Amino acid sequence: MTNAADVFTLKNSKGVEVTFIARGGQITSIKVPNAKGEVADVVIGYDTVEEALAGDAYYGAICGRYANRIVKGEFELNGQSYQLETNNGPNHLHGGTDGFNLRTWEVEQVELPQFAQACQLTLVSPDGDQGYPGELTTIVTYGLTEDNELVIEYDAVADKDTIINLTSHAYFNLDGAGAGTIAEHELTLNADKFTPIDGEIGTVTGEIAEVKDTSMDFTAAKKIKEALQADCPQVKLVDGIDHNFVINGYDGSLKLAARLESPLSGRCMEVYTDQPGVQVYTASHFDGSETGKQGRPIEKWAGLALETQIFPDSPNKAHFPEATLKAEEHYRHTCVYKFI
Ligand code: BGC
Repeated sequence: MTNAADVFTLKNSKGVEVTFIARGGQITSIKVPNAKGEVADVVIGYDTVEEALAGDAYYGAICGRYANRIVKGEFELNGQSYQLETNNGPNHLHGGTDGFNLRTWEVEQVELPQFAQACQLTLVSPDGDQGYPGELTTIVTYGLTEDNELVIEYDAVADKDTIINLTSHAYFNLDGAGAGTIAEHELTLNADKFTPIDGEIGTVTGEIAEVKDTSMDFTAAKKIKEALQADCPQVKLVDGIDHNFVINGYDGSLKLAARLESPLSGRCMEVYTDQPGVQVYTASHFDGSETGKQGRPIEKWAGLALETQIFPDSPNKAHFPEATLKAEEHYRHTCVYKFI
């Protein structure tokens, strides 16, 4: 039996070290050397497990059953209406107040040839859990390669038709948690389109818009502060970026979604996924009131979340990617965070 506070560490021979706890599968630290061999912990969080358990339970966690928002928490499946909890204004967010990020996952160390070290995390969510239909068994593999890739593989199967969208919610700061904001980080997104949001709905309108000539254009490397400071209604709505980007050329194979680089520390991270979208979130709700790593306040824009997934509110938008998982079929999702 795994306990909530159990800590697991994955290491490779290049000095990369990933630590997570069983509660929420929360990735509590990722230690990465830069070219000079200086090691920094590049995810936002806390110094101790006790603080992690008491603090923001989304940091580095596995979110589900439906990561991101479902408008008014409503959806229809096979002609039946479902009402989920509305825990984010009028909307359902990240599976509700008792989402997968708060569950204790059963963790097992596994040996897989492609990974230096790996663990498998299992969670059985009963039929009706959080209001979702079907008993859902989810297995998430965290694997660290000798190429400095943290690979997250999701595999889930339900005994009834259901909906699903899982993601990993780490906030990255390549200079190290507590070392300022991500404003000077350079971001490139392999996305010509994004899904605009509306303040009243609190999430996506259903439109799929071109990024060209907007602050959302990261098709070439750009400092994040250029968007943060822009006089742009989409930025103003969320005091930064909290948007889903449509990954170019989605075909279910692994594609580059994002590249994040800090000129200051020289660290770089690429994100690959087989999913159609990536939620880019500049952590605009952080306000310095919480104490994070090295006893430093967790300030606004302290980290950047790059959450691979389908689109927000897909169950209610016929032209968005399919959110339905048919009974006994497998949901599969791979996300790779590669440190360079
Ligand atoms: C969402 C944000 C939300 C945050 C909660 C992100 O995935 O896009 O709107 O505030 O999760 O931690």
